Amino acid sequence: MRNLLTLADLKSAEIDRIFAITEDLKTKYSQGLREALLPGRVMALLFEKPSLRTRVSFEAGMINLGGHSLFLGDDVGFGARESKADFGRVLSQYVDVVVIRAYHHQTAEDLARYCTCAVINGLTDYAHPCQALADLYTLKELIGRLKGHTLAYVGDGNNVARSLAEGCGKVGMKFVMATPKGYQFDAEFLALLGREVPDLELHVTTDPAKAVREATAIYADVWTSMGQEAESQQRRKDFAAYQINAKLLAKAPSGAFFMHCLPAHRGEEVTDEVIDGPQSIVVQQASNRLHVQKGILAWTLGAQR
Ligand code: CP
Ligand code: NVA
Repeated sequence: MRNLLTLADLKSAEIDRIFAITEDLKTKYSQGLREALLPGRVMALLFEKPSLRTRVSFEAGMINLGGHSLFLGDDVGFGARESKADFGRVLSQYVDVVVIRAYHHQTAEDLARYCTCAVINGLTDYAHPCQALADLYTLKELIGRLKGHTLAYVGDGNNVARSLAEGCGKVGMKFVMATPKGYQFDAEFLALLGREVPDLELHVTTDPAKAVREATAIYADVWTSMGQEAESQQRRKDFAAYQINAKLLAKAPSGAFFMHCLPAHRGEEVTDEVIDGPQSIVVQQASNRLHVQKGILAWTLGAQR
């Protein structure tokens, strides 16, 4: 039983292991097989924010694995009816794993401290590790060995960007980021990256054209994340020069992929012609959320294979 709160919780070899399980399960899935690696296991989803991909891929994935999924609504009273400690200790008596989506990363950390079952981060303001794993898995499917390739992230230094940077460090990819001043990684996270992935080649610029020059893939996320809606007008101004459009894509190598975690704010961080264009792999990324969640669940719960 292991937690996955950020990619700091995984060693490179463990990511390889999750990807190997994922590949095997995905191959079987494409042949119509659903291997019941987790029969009778129960997963609870505790979500403070909306979700399509994370929620449904975890729920469907657990069902594919022969387990069961419980989506907990407001009626369980998380954070309202009793202390988080009592909540976590009790919930762990009933389920094998909790996937939490929380506004504040501290909430996920607290839950993990009190739960005696596994806790997986399904997105917080700080990190989105399951997304980054699915993204790296998708790239691996397309290009094979990831080492030495460059991921160019254009936009906010947010939860998705942090997890991608950590993930790139773990798989040997270079992470180049074009982000306006004021939205870049803070000193604390940079120090953490230095300790966690000392070999990461990280380049930070304010110039999107410079960032995409050597990109194997260009990655965008929304300028305004969930919980930041009050800042959206200001952010639209601050990120106006960071849109991924045909002009910017033309500055990247011709075969560069376009990636986005979705949901997208079309017309802001990306234009329709790019996200719907031939270089876009966003649907493959979303599709792989299902397969990678299964790899994560099987690995987290230590399923015997
Ligand atoms: N990418 C992602 O996590 O999507 P959802 O918010 O729909 O889960
Ligand atoms: N950065 C976005 C990601 C959504 C999947 C958010 O936190 O809203």
